[in-house]
Amino acid sequence: MLFLAYPQWRLGMHRRSFALSKTKNMKTKKTIAIIGATGNMGSAISKSLSKGNYRLLLKANEEDKLDVLVKEIESIQTKAEVGVAVCPAEAGWEADIIILALPFGAEKEVAKKIKEVANQKIVISISNPLNETFDGLVTASDTSAAEELQKLLPNSKVIKAFNTTFAADFSSPVIDGKQVDAFIAGNDEEALQTVSELVTTAGFNPIVAGDLSISRTLESMQLLLIQLGIKYNYNWLAGWKILHN
Ligand SMILES: NC(=O)c1ccc[n+]([C@@H]2O[C@H](COP(=O)([O-])OP(=O)(O)OC[C@H]3O[C@@H](n4cnc5c(N)ncnc54)[C@H](OP(=O)(O)O)[C@@H]3O)[C@@H](O)[C@H]2O)c1
Repeated sequence: MLFLAYPQWRLGMHRRSFALSKTKNMKTKKTIAIIGATGNMGSAISKSLSKGNYRLLLKANEEDKLDVLVKEIESIQTKAEVGVAVCPAEAGWEADIIILALPFGAEKEVAKKIKEVANQKIVISISNPLNETFDGLVTASDTSAAEELQKLLPNSKVIKAFNTTFAADFSSPVIDGKQVDAFIAGNDEEALQTVSELVTTAGFNPIVAGDLSISRTLESMQLLLIQLGIKYNYNWLAGWKILHN
């Protein structure tokens, strides 16, 4: 089911409609802000999560691209309600969970804009801080993009997720007959559980890998997968799977 509040939201009436709707459904629907919604990952995550019983609040720089994405989501069978936000702070203010679908540099920039409104909220870092030549990370070995984000948002629950899955995997998260694993790291048990549910809705098998410092490994894992993908021409359709008994 799709909530067709989008035109009203765009006309500036969205705050009221949203607040009324939120009160009514507060116990059942979580609001998820996706900032960078029109990028490769942002659009893949938005479409995937539209299958869930959520309220999606999308933010992107270019309105035309955002219109196309909203129409695309409206045209598929979805449970989610979909709306747009005018700025990251509004998206963060309305949201229970904030997904930063942004490059590492932009993630840090946007963190400053949402700092006040993201207090006690889950903020998901999907970024892989790759260097320009894709042969290393720009972060030092004793930190990670997610840990740097946590430093900028000390009162938020930063969780690493979706960084080990390629955007191309989302339309079919089963590769070679196996459901792709998606690793999650963070310091708050309840937040890890909530994000595991999002990952499941998106079609991946969630694996809680450990605390936020495990992001160092997760970000390096995706660097390796990118390098292997380039070497062996996986065409971005590749993922991680832990085989076990
Ligand atoms: N692509 C993948 O398969 C993949 C897989 C796992 C993780 N990741 C990670 O996901 C993140 C996004 O990657 P992507 O491939 O989706 O990149 P992308 O297609 O270039 O999308 C990036 C998005 O961020 C927005 N953006 C860029 N700079 C911004 C800023 N300063 N303020 C606000 N918005 C800004 C862009 O908006 P405009 O287009 O309007 O500028 C765009 O919507 C990266 O950190 C990447 O490491 C990617």
